[in-house]
Amino acid sequence: MKSSNNLIINSSPPLIGEIKIPGDKSISHRAVLIASLANGRSKIDNFLFSDDCICTIKAVEDLGIKVDLSEQSLYINGKGLRGLSCSDSTFNAGNSGTLMRLLTGVLAAQNFSSSISGDESLSQRPMSRIINPLCEIGAQIESKSGKAPLKIIQPQNLTPINYVQEIASAQVKSCLIFTSLFIDGTSTFIESIPTRDHTENLLEHFKYPIERNNGKSTIHGQYSFNAKDITIPSDISSAAFFIVGALINKESHITLRNININPLRTGIIEVLKKMGASINIFNIKTLSNELVADIEVKYSKLKSISLNGEIISSLIDELPILFIACALSSGISTIKGIEELRYKESDRILSMQNGLEKIGINVTSTNDSITIEGGKISGAEIDSFNDHRVAMAFAVCGLVSNESITIKNTKNIATSFPQFVDTLRDMGAQIFEI
Ligand code: S3P
Repeated sequence: MKSSNNLIINSSPPLIGEIKIPGDKSISHRAVLIASLANGRSKIDNFLFSDDCICTIKAVEDLGIKVDLSEQSLYINGKGLRGLSCSDSTFNAGNSGTLMRLLTGVLAAQNFSSSISGDESLSQRPMSRIINPLCEIGAQIESKSGKAPLKIIQPQNLTPINYVQEIASAQVKSCLIFTSLFIDGTSTFIESIPTRDHTENLLEHFKYPIERNNGKSTIHGQYSFNAKDITIPSDISSAAFFIVGALINKESHITLRNININPLRTGIIEVLKKMGASINIFNIKTLSNELVADIEVKYSKLKSISLNGEIISSLIDELPILFIACALSSGISTIKGIEELRYKESDRILSMQNGLEKIGINVTSTNDSITIEGGKISGAEIDSFNDHRVAMAFAVCGLVSNESITIKNTKNIATSFPQFVDTLRDMGAQIFEI
């Protein structure tokens, strides 16, 4: 399912009722990759069939893994740690930084050479953060000045990894965890700022032995593990658009089911609550070694917030929609320590500042911070810069704008949330594809 290229959103009625949120993107990528390395057939439920995750399916198929779809469940016929082969050595990660970085971790340890490329946006994003640590342990990777396309040359010998976090990035950590699975010996991973631990959780779900203690994980490579069924929790990053949509739109009252509430992903809930949001989390349980819960949200008057430090990595993907919440709250919000936003699908500080200013909000920024003055919004035509989260953030903003908001270049919504427009429309939103 493709989203159309431009959207118009008019002021809309309150959001009321239950909203179905699709499977988590980070976990969907990891589920396919890990199940491919297991021995036997794993069934994956609530997989996110978005453009990014479909690229991951295509990648493992090109590595000789048989993937079937039956009644909405995905089946991965894993061939074990040494089972990957290469029919086509050129991989395409599309728009997905997660796929490019995690797959490179796998490819760097294979007994064949390969290359991996991505779309225009992905080809601008920094890859030296994975190339450097991989080359330190003996991998051979050629790049275009630290950017894709990457050429991954069959390695001679890889030594165990001693990872000490330099950038708070789950993609970098996970890339190296994937490589460590193929290395004879013990690799260690030390994080000073904790980042999402879905790779570790899923490996544990597959009974792969990992020792975890106070920010340090230890992985013994070359352990053979068996297939396991997975149910993927729904994605809190996608839920966040509807959570903020309900908070800003008068008389809204929604419930979202089975949302992943991994504590390394729930910064957005914590921050919105501090801003005055009425958010109730209940029915907490564990699903495939991840915490999930139902979330009830009611319209609330929001006040501004100041943020900095560790919390940023737990809401990194929710910053665009948080900026919208700030723009519609009372007072001035300042969010610091967000330079990483400059290296996402677009430079999200720039893209969001550009759009917010167009709708009449006062914004200032530095290289790693943004200040947003809550105020009255007006209609405008906004460019999403081909960034799915920027597009969805302004679509939600349009729900409460007296004049329509037009958003250009919204096709990439399909990379993470192909049903976004239909879901909003089903809730009664005045959203039109043009
Ligand atoms: C992700 C990690 C984060 C996040 C991205 C998904 C992952 O990126 O922004 O959308 O699945 O590991 P970084 O690792 O670059 O922070």
